[in-house]
Amino acid sequence: MQVNNIAKETYQLSVNVENILFEGLWEMPNGVSLNSYIIKGEKTAIVDGVCGWDGVPESLFALLDKLNINPKDIEYLIVNHVEPDHSGWIEAFKKINKNFQVVCSKKGKELLSAFYGQTENITVVGEKDTLDLGNGHVITFTEIPNVHWPDTIAAFDTLTGTLFSCDAFGSFGKLEDKIYADQFSEEELKEYEKDTVRYYSNIVAHFSPQVKKAVAKCRELPVKQIAPGHGLIWREPAKIMDAYSDYADYQKGPARKEITFIWGSMYGMTETAVKHAIKMLEKKDITLHVHQVPKDSWGTVLTSAWTSTGIIVAMPTYEFKMFPPMGAVLEELGKKKVFNRKAFRFGSYGWSGGAQRELDEITTRLGMNWEFVEPVEFLGKSDEEVLSKISEQIDKLVSLVEEAVK
Ligand code: FEO
Repeated sequence: MQVNNIAKETYQLSVNVENILFEGLWEMPNGVSLNSYIIKGEKTAIVDGVCGWDGVPESLFALLDKLNINPKDIEYLIVNHVEPDHSGWIEAFKKINKNFQVVCSKKGKELLSAFYGQTENITVVGEKDTLDLGNGHVITFTEIPNVHWPDTIAAFDTLTGTLFSCDAFGSFGKLEDKIYADQFSEEELKEYEKDTVRYYSNIVAHFSPQVKKAVAKCRELPVKQIAPGHGLIWREPAKIMDAYSDYADYQKGPARKEITFIWGSMYGMTETAVKHAIKMLEKKDITLHVHQVPKDSWGTVLTSAWTSTGIIVAMPTYEFKMFPPMGAVLEELGKKKVFNRKAFRFGSYGWSGGAQRELDEITTRLGMNWEFVEPVEFLGKSDEEVLSKISEQIDKLVSLVEEAVK
């Protein structure tokens, strides 16, 4: 829990959350920070509250106390989006402060009513509307819908050049002693980026076309720093804007020179062939992510698949279909629109085939448009001939990936 002065009369209030699933679904091995901001002009505004995942606002009130701010003195609640990680505290706040205005988008107004029964004291803002807090803090609003809720807006303080971007440009990962990206070494930033890609692919990815539009809009503002609802503050805004633009492009591919290898096995028949394939891939000049299902979560697989141009799926047939956890993961990749990948499937079967039929059904129904090299399917265990066929197809897949990312 920390308070940081990030610009003139502007403070970040941050709480780290761990050991929960974001949206009740996505694991976060390194937790996440919930960032809220205070702007103290002649009037005081809070941008996106923070609260425990249970909606209890004690941590927020403790942080305000550190700043000697009485919640009763907050006049504006700028709700960039109504998702409960940032707005769940409003009900408790209402019991303390009766004289505040919520500032949100038109859609946000509907959601506030639906989620919290808040129907009064609401000022609706749209594109380029402003809010003057005094002392020069004029807040301009930009609509960035679906990044990531439909009501999302970003608030820009023209005095300090701070863009309060809500979920846009955010990341998983706790905030420790460093809160600015430029305090990290290149190496540390590379490591941190894994949490950013996890956040993007798990939370925002589906809306990549809207992300592209949001990035373009934000680039038009004279932004000096980006202060997101989760993760580090960026004093070199172009870096995270460029990164987000790239992530959005990965949806349609090609992505990076990477292969994500997803595998599952029941009795070790497929696993033997998997080990052979991994050994071979490790000798190639290509980044490899290996995930076993159902051991690794959807979110983890999705994180790797998002940046990968090549995907290998290896699993047995199970009751005339794919090994079930593989089917579930592929469905999720399809729903997040991991499109136009280069791919290869192999695996064993016992009674009959059937995996291909289900794979085709999923990729067609979800419009994934993956280009597959010829699959290798084998009865029982893999012999030398099977392993050599797998090697051949992997060579072809690597060539396709290299060609695509040229
Ligand atoms: Fe801060 Fe949309 O989560």
